[in-house]
Amino acid sequence: MQKIIRSLSKIDSTIIPPGDKSISIRATLLNAISNGNAKISNYCLGADGLSMIRCLRGLGIKIVKSNPDSTNSKSKTFIVHGKGPYGFNEPIGILNAGNSGTSMRLLAGLMSSQPNFGVISGDQSLRSRPMTRIIQPLSQMGATIMGRENNSLPPLAIFGGELQSIKYKLPIASAQLKSCILVAGLYADGETIIHQPASSRDHTERMLRSMGAKINIKGNEIGIHRSQLSPIDIDVPGDISAAAFWLVAACCHPSARIKITRVGINPTRTGIIDVLKTMGAKISINNISDEGGEPVADIIAESSELTATEIGGEIIPNVIDELPVIALAACFAKGTTIISDAKELRVKESDRIKSTIEGLISLGAKIEEKPDGMAIKGIQSLTGNLCQSYGDHRIAMTMAIAGLIAKGKTTVTGAESVNISYPDFWDTLDDLH
Ligand code: S3P
Repeated sequence: MQKIIRSLSKIDSTIIPPGDKSISIRATLLNAISNGNAKISNYCLGADGLSMIRCLRGLGIKIVKSNPDSTNSKSKTFIVHGKGPYGFNEPIGILNAGNSGTSMRLLAGLMSSQPNFGVISGDQSLRSRPMTRIIQPLSQMGATIMGRENNSLPPLAIFGGELQSIKYKLPIASAQLKSCILVAGLYADGETIIHQPASSRDHTERMLRSMGAKINIKGNEIGIHRSQLSPIDIDVPGDISAAAFWLVAACCHPSARIKITRVGINPTRTGIIDVLKTMGAKISINNISDEGGEPVADIIAESSELTATEIGGEIIPNVIDELPVIALAACFAKGTTIISDAKELRVKESDRIKSTIEGLISLGAKIEEKPDGMAIKGIQSLTGNLCQSYGDHRIAMTMAIAGLIAKGKTTVTGAESVNISYPDFWDTLDDLH
């Protein structure tokens, strides 16, 4: 599918973003191992959220749309019927995590704890994403896991069983890796201790604590003991990674004001706001409230005069999904923006250093590739052209926003990839006024 985008002379819109993908995926998984039923509202209906539901159903967990709108395919409310820590069936077929790295890595942690054999695979992109990072700690805990290419790539064949606790230093600040070990740690003898090199999104820790898990956090060290979870109803906050596209659209457009409502502003996710504000963005945060341990707010962004910045070090895990759209913002800033320490971008849904640079350069951007990032020379304007999504939702949306603020017409091919995290993205773009 391809989409054509033209610039708008003025924007004054209010947007309701989709439910947070990371929180949605954790809400179904953790409630599935709890002792009871939980209602998850505002679930992310993107393909990744649905991949987690499909896999959990494949493991014998009942997850149904909630009444009164159970027949409505757009209903975002699900009831998860938790079956306790060992309620899973041995899967009959191969579990399909689709494009979702988070689903595969968190489920691998869970499947390692079950006295079962299971195989989990995914689409072409997921089958090329590194799994050694989870296979190593899970094997140390006692699971037997095999994968393609010398046990480094999916599909993963997992022989679960009794697990022992480990003390593990994460080689990378990855929330998926941390969460995989935390889930396995719920089943291990003794205290599993994880040391992370820098903080990454902490939704798993917050949710585990609200569900009664024995979890201790001291700086970058997290300890978890074997625990049984109580079910918890969750109203999923709006996804700040989806909101990021509209924030950049408003800041780079010459005459725009965009309000995004009920966005999750967990401090491990708000790096995008910090970076844009450092660049001079006019962003305000209003109506802050708390939704089950996660802070939520309305965010308003307006046309801004941006200046270049340097982005590297500890902030990187907190902006990792927003770097493609930050690179777009940097094209509209005065000066040269440097992104470094972001090698992880190369192993996301696409090589996001390459796909971001190739896409933006096709619209006239001046960007130099680095092994761990890029240097973006602000030229304060882009010109519409044909560009592709690389099958990557965040690249498709970055290029669409680029088209909205570029001169002329932009065509994005592979536009359907937005369905991974933001199925309403194109409708929302079409409704902007
Ligand atoms: C996610 C963590 C991040 C992020 C991904 C979702 C999560 O990956 O890129 O989109 O839900 O835990 P890493 O933590 O592995 O970098």
